[in-house]
Amino acid sequence: MSIQFKRSTVVTFLGLALLAGVSVAPLQAKTPAPVAPPQVQYDYDMDIFHPVIAHNGMVATEQHLASAIGLDILKKGGNAVDAAVAIGFALAVALPNAGNLGGGGFMMVHDKDSGQTIALDFREMAPAKASRDMYLDEKGDVVAGRSLYTHLAVGVPGTVAGMEHALKKWGSMPLEQVIQPAIELAENGYIVSNSLAENLAATKESLGKWDTTKAIFFRDGEPLKAGDLLVQKDLAESMRLIAKEGADAFYKGKIADQIVAEMGKHDGLITKEDLANYKVVEREPVKGTYRGYEVVSMPPPSSGGIHVIQMLNMLEPHDLNVLGLNSSKTVTLVAEIMKRAYADRSEYLGDPDFSQVPQKGLTSKAYANSLANTISFDKVTPSKEILPGKPQPYESDQTTHYSVVDKDGNAVAVTYTLNLNFGSGIVAGESGILLNNEMDDFSAKPGVPNAFGLIGGDANAVEPAKRPLSSMTPTLVLKDGKPWLVTGSPGGARIITTVLQTILNSIDFGMNPAEAASTPRFHHQWLPDELRVEKGFSPDTLALLKEKGYDIALKPAMGRTQTIQVRDNVLYGYSDPRNPDGVTIGY
Ligand code: GLY
Repeated sequence: MSIQFKRSTVVTFLGLALLAGVSVAPLQAKTPAPVAPPQVQYDYDMDIFHPVIAHNGMVATEQHLASAIGLDILKKGGNAVDAAVAIGFALAVALPNAGNLGGGGFMMVHDKDSGQTIALDFREMAPAKASRDMYLDEKGDVVAGRSLYTHLAVGVPGTVAGMEHALKKWGSMPLEQVIQPAIELAENGYIVSNSLAENLAATKESLGKWDTTKAIFFRDGEPLKAGDLLVQKDLAESMRLIAKEGADAFYKGKIADQIVAEMGKHDGLITKEDLANYKVVEREPVKGTYRGYEVVSMPPPSSGGIHVIQMLNMLEPHDLNVLGLNSSKTVTLVAEIMKRAYADRSEYLGDPDFSQVPQKGLTSKAYANSLANTISFDKVTPSKEILPGKPQPYESDQTTHYSVVDKDGNAVAVTYTLNLNFGSGIVAGESGILLNNEMDDFSAKPGVPNAFGLIGGDANAVEPAKRPLSSMTPTLVLKDGKPWLVTGSPGGARIITTVLQTILNSIDFGMNPAEAASTPRFHHQWLPDELRVEKGFSPDTLALLKEKGYDIALKPAMGRTQTIQVRDNVLYGYSDPRNPDGVTIGY
């Protein structure tokens, strides 16, 4: 039997300790020893799903045209960062619902020579005129849609600055060279796939409000259909300017003028100063250990790295192989752990440049142990006993992730986004550039959920020049100091639990990336108090979970990982089958 603490007891304990400036002490005198990883041999005979195999370099993206462009850069002698930047621009053309120039994101770069991993933050920033209550009406209630589908929803984009910074610092090719394939793709066009057509149809309303957007993505008043040719001449021109003038074209030049003019026409807040003041930040990754592997991931303003490590810490004393893959016991343990992590997310996470995030405390093994002690295998803790909240049932799965490993062993993991599908749906004037709606990732009002049903606290309130809290989790798992797994996923709130399960499937269950991606996933984010499952769980397991007290919701597939694993200098990669357009290729 285990003791049931009220969630608030644990939260208060951590909060007080941090306020007092002391490190968090364990609630239990002894932290349990980790269970060693299973001695799984990589045995092809046992695999049902097979990864792509290569020896010199590999890219895994959500769009085959972008993967081809990235691989071509590797083959021409570019390194992983050259390829990652080329892919970043290519996805802005080929995956317009999530790839972007008008959004932001995170890049993890592992430099083989120094053995260092750097976390590059090119997340959007709130404009200088943004204010805490900008999404509330005079009664103090959140105005539906204002943080999603208006010009007030747009954060100052970071992608172009991020790509330029990465290329200058770690790349080997000139910007003109890595951006050229994306320019050609935009200029010549490509055939709209089924999934892009479905995304366009699903977003018809928000896209259809803006003439600049309709001019690109609609024909005869309707969104483009599968099989249509999508040509983006304005976007090609914007990228030509960036190729010539660098990021200054976007932040100080003609594109800046186009964005500011767009804002001026519709009461948006972004000014030329906001664009000129945009800053990329190199951050120290958040690091943890799990069964002898090192996990290196994105620190705040992403919540992803901290909570993946926090959950792994809670899991480490348990032998998941004994509990069984996706058995009711494993799902119970992991779901209860997820609930505790997401409750902490709502309280402590925000932009570290604005509030102190208790990163050390949240990722300490002792704190994980204290939280894990509140978990029972027999009975679930209702989320309302942890902390209250009222989530809204919005569903969206946008954002995109890609992974690259080059012949020298440099590795890059990028997750970037416009937030929801096609972001705000607004194309800035004649730039051809879709603008994000990342401001919705702030807490419009602490305690009121955002588009992903996530609750935030004061730490994530809107402030000028602040970065909204993210769940994006580009992650590297290192073995003996070298990349062993390069992974990440889209999926909003589900990103963190998708990355967690990818790591568990790889380490605990010894799966190759194809098997790891093809295994059904589950998700609990504390609020709403539901255990979300994909199809593929046995009815027996679901019955046992229901008996324990879970409210089970069978919902659409979650996450779309792009994973590369390096074993004995051989690359094994796989694009999540949940997205039919994703392709992993190597040479
Ligand atoms: N916009 C989703 C995220 O950053 O988590």
